[in-house]
Amino acid sequence: MLIFKTIQDIQNQIFALKKEGKKIGFAPTMGALHEGHVSLIRQSRRENDITVCSIFVNPTQFNDPNDFEKYPSTLESDMQKLITAKCDILFLPSVAEMYPTGLKNPKPLDFGFLAETLEGEWRPGHFAGMAQIVEKLLRAVTPDRLYMGQKDYQQAMICSDMIRQLKLKTRLVLCPVKREKDGLAMSSRNVRLDKKSRAKAVEISKVLRSVKASIKRRRTTDDGPQKTPVIDYEKKAFDRLSSFSEFKVEYVAIRNAKTLKPVKNISTTTPLVALVAAWIGGVRLIDNMLL
Ligand code: PAF
Repeated sequence: MLIFKTIQDIQNQIFALKKEGKKIGFAPTMGALHEGHVSLIRQSRRENDITVCSIFVNPTQFNDPNDFEKYPSTLESDMQKLITAKCDILFLPSVAEMYPTGLKNPKPLDFGFLAETLEGEWRPGHFAGMAQIVEKLLRAVTPDRLYMGQKDYQQAMICSDMIRQLKLKTRLVLCPVKREKDGLAMSSRNVRLDKKSRAKAVEISKVLRSVKASIKRRRTTDDGPQKTPVIDYEKKAFDRLSSFSEFKVEYVAIRNAKTLKPVKNISTTTPLVALVAAWIGGVRLIDNMLL
C-alpha cells in the first residue's frame, strides 16, 4: 500500500493512474477502522481499478471538543486492516496540510434544510466542517466513485448534494450499514462503550427494527380511517428507548428518505428512513433504517 501525506503527492499519483485509464474509488475515514470501513474498501476494490482510503481526524467537524479529544486513534492497526483489505493507497495528511490557512471556511456551501435538521440541530457546525473536509479530500483524490456508509445517512445526503452543487465528476456509492452480531451498528465510537452500555446499546437497532416492522404492517394492511400518523410511531419508539434509564435519547425521526423532510402519513410510494440519535454511557450513537 502506498502512503501519501501531501495533496501534491497524491494528486501526482492519481494523475499518473488516470492517464493509464484507471478508475479510482475513494473511502474517506477518520481512522479507528472497523468492519464497516473495510466493507467500503472491499466494495471499492470490486468496482474500481484503484482504491484510496484517507485517514484524517477532522478538527472542524467536532462540535464537542471532548469528543475530538476522545476520538480513538489506532493508526497501526488501521494500516494493518487496510493492507489486509488490499487497499492500494492511503492518504494520511496532517491538519496543516489540509488547513494551511486556518480552520475557518472562507466559502461554505449552503445545504439548507438538509444540514439544518436532525444532526444539524443537535450538532451545530458539524456538517459545515464535514463538508469542508470532504470537499478538500475530493479535490485532492478526484475519485470516480466515493464510498460512504449508510450509517451516516444525513452526511451521505449532504455529500451527494455537494457533488451536485460543485459539479464534481464523482459518483456517490452508499454502502449498507454493517452491524455487530446482535444488531448494533458498527461505529468507531463503540469501543468507548463500557460492557454494560455496550450490551444495552443494541436496543437502538431493536427499536428501529420494530419501527420498520410496524410500518411494513401498516403499508400492507389498510386500516382505513384509523390511520396511524407518523408522529405516533416516532413517539412510541422514542418512549420505548427512553424507558431504559441508560439512554438519553435526542431524536427518533421518520423522514422522507430522499429529502429528510418530515412526513405526516405513511404511503406505499414515499421511501422513508427512520433515524435515531441517543447517548449511552457518555457516548453518542446514531443509527438508521430504510423503511
Ligand atoms: O464519516 C466520517 O468518518 C467523516 O465524517 C468523514 C466523511 C471521513 C469526513 O471527515
